[in-house]
Amino acid sequence: MSTRPRLTLIAAVSEDGFISRGQGVPWDLPRDRVHFRSATAGKWLLLGRRTYDEMIGWFRDHTPLVLTRDPTFVPPIGKAVLSVAQALDLAAEAGVEEIFVCGGSAAYELAFPHADRLLVTQVGRLLGAGAAFPKIEMPPWRLVSSLDYPADAGNAFPMGFADYRRA
Ligand SMILES: NC(=O)c1ccc[n+]([C@@H]2O[C@H](COP(=O)([O-])OP(=O)(O)OC[C@H]3O[C@@H](n4cnc5c(N)ncnc54)[C@H](OP(=O)(O)O)[C@@H]3O)[C@@H](O)[C@H]2O)c1
Repeated sequence: MSTRPRLTLIAAVSEDGFISRGQGVPWDLPRDRVHFRSATAGKWLLLGRRTYDEMIGWFRDHTPLVLTRDPTFVPPIGKAVLSVAQALDLAAEAGVEEIFVCGGSAAYELAFPHADRLLVTQVGRLLGAGAAFPKIEMPPWRLVSSLDYPADAGNAFPMGFADYRRA
């Protein structure tokens, strides 16, 4: 019998809870990119189709699953799925232990109720409006580690890398 993979959401979120102003990622933070690449290297990913299109040149050793409502969509890299449940089933059949949900807001919203872990980069910047990340309530979430960095010459905003587990 296959075991359900762990579902981890990985996101960079503004101080007021937003991931985007509608198009693209609203900051340029090399330190967060290193964190993201290191956490997801070689992993199975789940992305909404819009985010997949934005990240298409970026996949290397990843297996991307693309969330779409279009049953005819065939992605150039990876596989299409019509639901989070289908992504979990595919990964379980392949013996994968963890899937990383990489956004955007639609994918986070759909995956959040099933998530076991949240890797959140808290960006020290207010956006005021945009696409929101789901609210992290404690409980059921528990902060297990957090690492803070100040802004520097290459990273215009301070950031904290937080790891939450479902209690
Ligand atoms: N700050 C961060 O960490 C971060 C991370 C990732 C992305 N982002 C940003 O987030 C924004 C994109 O977010 P988004 O919400 O607009 O798009 P998204 O979640 O990337 O993708 C939306 C697409 O997902 C599919 N979808 C939505 N609901 C579905 C459902 N119930 N069942 C099956 N498929 C479904 C649809 O694809 P079809 O149209 O093909 O049906 C829809 O167009 C971009 O600005 C991106 O840069 C930020």
